[in-house]
Amino acid sequence: MGAKRSILIMFCALMLFRHVEASSSSSQKNQSQDSLDSFLYNYALNSIPKPRTGQLYEVSSPANFSGMEVSVLRLRAHSLWKNGANLSSIEIPPMAALPFPFTRRVDLVYQNLGNWSTSYYNVPNYTLVAPVAGLLAYDSDTGPTSTMLVGLDMQGDSLITVVFRSVSLHQYDVTSLQCVRFAADGTLQLSNVTGGGGTCVWRGDGHFSIVAPRNMKKGKASRVKWWMIGIPGVAAVAVLIAGIGIFCWKMCRWRNVRKMERIAERSEGLNSTWIGSSRMPTATGIRTQPNLENSYIP
Ligand SMILES: *[C@@H]1O[C@H](CO)[C@@H](O)[C@H](O)[C@H]1NC(C)=O
Ligand SMILES: *[C@@H]1O[C@H](CO)[C@@H](O)[C@H](O)[C@H]1NC(C)=O
Ligand SMILES: *[C@@H]1O[C@H](CO)[C@@H](O)[C@H](O)[C@H]1NC(C)=O
Ligand SMILES: *[C@@H]1O[C@H](CO)[C@@H](O)[C@H](O)[C@H]1NC(C)=O
Ligand SMILES: *[C@@H]1O[C@H](CO)[C@@H](O)[C@H](O)[C@H]1NC(C)=O
Ligand SMILES: *[C@@H]1O[C@H](CO)[C@@H](O)[C@H](O)[C@H]1NC(C)=O
Repeated sequence: MGAKRSILIMFCALMLFRHVEASSSSSQKNQSQDSLDSFLYNYALNSIPKPRTGQLYEVSSPANFSGMEVSVLRLRAHSLWKNGANLSSIEIPPMAALPFPFTRRVDLVYQNLGNWSTSYYNVPNYTLVAPVAGLLAYDSDTGPTSTMLVGLDMQGDSLITVVFRSVSLHQYDVTSLQCVRFAADGTLQLSNVTGGGGTCVWRGDGHFSIVAPRNMKKGKASRVKWWMIGIPGVAAVAVLIAGIGIFCWKMCRWRNVRKMERIAERSEGLNSTWIGSSRMPTATGIRTQPNLENSYIP
């Protein structure tokens, strides 16, 4: 009974442990990406009251978002078309992009979400191995009260280049790495990393990063965990069963010995008797008669 119960308790504990492990790895928060974008744009406009056209402004990150980078470049559409634009690690070549829907002037916003990246962006079955960088275009004529996000319409075969310079990718199998683009419409695209370093090229704006596949690693990890739980579990059950076996065997043997002893003792006669579970010797009579000492008194 006791053994059965302890096996049951152990089994339940194992199942509970596995359940807790599984649920802790499957929750991933998704705060609103769009509201972060408009918050950062408004924040940038507020910290640069009168941005000059053609000048790149690096904005210090909002106090409660420390670790992010934001910069803004206001351009005439004509200039964007003729010269292209460079914002930190993102390059728009000349004759490549126009705002769409068309606006006379455009605010290009560069974001680097830094250590906030995974709070806002994730790719199923992949791990982000670079921070999320963003390139967004706003109609600069609408002003800070009603921001309007516009897209970049890419002409011909033109591509936007995103370089993740500060990221060390040596620890990953380079052929397994993928560039990822989170487009403004919520779609997600993957493509090969180009060049030696972490360089990605895309036909459009949005948010960009680099990801490594998570599948194999995760499978291996969970198998290892199974083993880690399995080996001690099996060993414990084996020890328990062996213990029960030895206990039963000893019990049976002890009973047999006791039975045989009793039989033997009964046939021995009156020299011993059982009091409770103990055998006591019993005397049948007085062997030595006491001598009275007072007969020696002189
Ligand atoms: C930072 O503050 C802004 C408002 O000032 C708020 O909208 C935003 O949610 C805050 N972010 C965090 C991470 O607390
Ligand atoms: C952007 O940078 C590239 C080299 O990194 C340079 O060739 C190009 O002229 C720059 N464009 C602008 C508009 O500054
Ligand atoms: C990012 O790092 C900054 C300090 O550099 C910290 O204040 C902030 O809480 C971090 N953000 C997250 C989401 O961990
Ligand atoms: C965030 O949530 C929205 C709607 O809830 C969803 O459409 C979007 O795909 C989510 N994004 C991520 C990165 O989970
Ligand atoms: C992630 O991987 C699992 C198992 O390999 C698969 O069933 C699932 O469809 C994948 N999810 C996506 C979004 O590819
Ligand atoms: C991406 O790279 C893999 C091998 O590294 C190759 O087989 C595949 O054709 C490439 N895809 C594109 C679109 O270039």
